[in-house]
Amino acid sequence: MNPVFADLPVSVFEVMSALARKHEAVNLGQGFPDDPGPEDVRRKAAEAVVDGWNQYPSMLGLIELRQAIAAHYRHWQNLTLDPESEIMVTSGATEALAGSLLALIEPGDEVVLFQPLYDAYLPLVKRAGGVPRLVRLEPPHWRFSEEMLARAFPPKTKVVLFNNPLNPAGTVYGRADLELLARFCEKSGAIVVCDEVWEHVIFDGRRHVPLIALPGMRERCVKIGSAGKIFSLTGWKVGFVCAAPHILRVLAKAHQFITFTTPPNLQAAVAYGLAKSDDYFETMRRDFQRSRDRFTAGLRTLGFPVIDAEGTYFVNVDLASLGLNEDDESFCKRLVVEHQVAAIPVSAFYAAEPIRSVVRFCFAKRDATLDAALDRLAGALKRAA
Ligand SMILES: Cc1ncc(COP(=O)(O)O)c(C=O)c1O
Repeated sequence: MNPVFADLPVSVFEVMSALARKHEAVNLGQGFPDDPGPEDVRRKAAEAVVDGWNQYPSMLGLIELRQAIAAHYRHWQNLTLDPESEIMVTSGATEALAGSLLALIEPGDEVVLFQPLYDAYLPLVKRAGGVPRLVRLEPPHWRFSEEMLARAFPPKTKVVLFNNPLNPAGTVYGRADLELLARFCEKSGAIVVCDEVWEHVIFDGRRHVPLIALPGMRERCVKIGSAGKIFSLTGWKVGFVCAAPHILRVLAKAHQFITFTTPPNLQAAVAYGLAKSDDYFETMRRDFQRSRDRFTAGLRTLGFPVIDAEGTYFVNVDLASLGLNEDDESFCKRLVVEHQVAAIPVSAFYAAEPIRSVVRFCFAKRDATLDAALDRLAGALKRAA
């Protein structure tokens, strides 16, 4: 069996979810909202199952969805994309990532990644034969500097895998950060796989800047999005890839033999959803922002040192200043067993030299769920001190 997968340990996500079930915990570990998602979009999907097309759709995705993606990104991100040659629909961002990495990396190629890493990245890079070069980001700002990039980037870098907004940190990288990264990508000849699944889930009036929009990056970026995150329907697994035609053509070859296509009814509903008014997207952000603020204020009242979340469904606390005698993983295990609240230790997102003091909570929950978690967290710091 291939050791990349055979030797993968049971992930901390599985461990925490099992403990959460056993101890009947409020689960703020997994990243999904407990709201069912927009009813009109779900109804469109239901109608499309009953009355619509249920056979193989086009391999690149329904043309109506590709047109809707182009119109959506034109409106929200000022991008001009050709739906015929620069957009492909995939079965979630995860398939887009797997296909991109398989299509772009040859064995021995050097790949720059940023820690904390989304869990799928490293196994996929390694399985494709890539040699990882890691940039280590640190709390509280999780930003990279010229020196950090100079240390990590080999002279010839094949691929850079970049997640913005960054899960688990909740950081949103703006134009200055992106310009710095773009310089290194151009100099080393890299193609950047931009995981932008959280592009709509950003707060405090921020606007998402896609790396592909920067000068010179159009020819070297693969932009990945996810309807699951845009519509808070994480189980839908409808993703999109945008790239210049010469790159997309190759990615389509990988997609052809991974899933070939994605359920057409969900695609039709996503096409409908992407055309919703600005009001829908702004309300969605405002609602998540309100949950973030409610939970952050509650955590601060209990004495948790919270790192401000700029985007995503996650807020982190950094226990370092509290002088506790346990690391993030033991802290999370104690939280779930003694306080019945599940969270995720951020060390799980590092492949080397982990940060061991940061714990991630998902705040994309109803008020009652967040308040129940806060009630249970009272006293959690006192007993550990
Ligand atoms: C950074 C990042 N990339 C990709 C994904 C997976 O997206 P999808 O469910 O569309 O496969 C997630 C889901 O949490 C994520 O946080």
